[in-house]
Amino acid sequence: MRAHDRYEWAWVMRTVLFDRFIAGRVAAGADMVVNLAAGLDARPYRMELPPALEWIEVDLPALLDYKESILRDEKPVCALERVRMDLSDVAARRELFGRLGRKARNALLITEGLLIYLTAEEVGALAEDLARPEGFRHWVLDIASPGLLRLLQREVGVALEQAGAPLKFGPPEGPKFFEPHGWHPVAVESPLKAAARAKRLPFLLRLFAMLPESSGPQGNRPWSGICLMEKKTT
Ligand SMILES: C[S@@+](CC[C@H](N)C(=O)[O-])C[C@H]1O[C@@H](n2cnc3c(N)ncnc32)[C@H](O)[C@@H]1O
Repeated sequence: MRAHDRYEWAWVMRTVLFDRFIAGRVAAGADMVVNLAAGLDARPYRMELPPALEWIEVDLPALLDYKESILRDEKPVCALERVRMDLSDVAARRELFGRLGRKARNALLITEGLLIYLTAEEVGALAEDLARPEGFRHWVLDIASPGLLRLLQREVGVALEQAGAPLKFGPPEGPKFFEPHGWHPVAVESPLKAAARAKRLPFLLRLFAMLPESSGPQGNRPWSGICLMEKKTT
């Protein structure tokens, strides 16, 4: 997918910003990390993490079988559990979240590169299921603006649709989409701004990155945000 190569900086900075939020929450005392649709993510092997930290990866059985076959000889730095599950099975995921949420005091949830494949209704329902368990406290997620969603649909959408994974979610409300579903954004980082600081942008985008950025809805502007959400208490 050539277009993906052109936006390499965006995938790299997404990873970096997730790493930073995760490291920050772990330093602040998170005792569990739950990575939903973890894919081939290797953070429990490559990050510096406390050995007692519980790290749970959830993904489809075939994906996790493949991943385990590759990582067979590697050792994670913390306590790693893999859960083979179809996250669209609402009863099964609620049971899993309930079990994990009773065990953890201060869990961090991660969804990286997942929500864009869901409808707004599906994202809202997932957010509400994640807000329920007592021990689930923070959530790091990435979202696209409506403008970026359209750009990605144009550039890579056809191939993804053919693969049965159309791009769907780019909420006009931005990070505030999650407010009625139990989550409040406490920090939002732009991969574009982070890439400019890291000197990873092509020239034209460097100019674009100098424009001031509002923290509200982004509309047609191609924008993505890596968001640290905190569970609302009322
Ligand atoms: C775009 S990848 C993101 C992977 C990883 N989080 C990352 O950022 O590299 C999406 C992941 O969602 C997983 N997935 C898709 N549908 C799923 C479902 N119904 N239940 C659980 N995982 C699912 C896929 O197997 C894949 O690993």
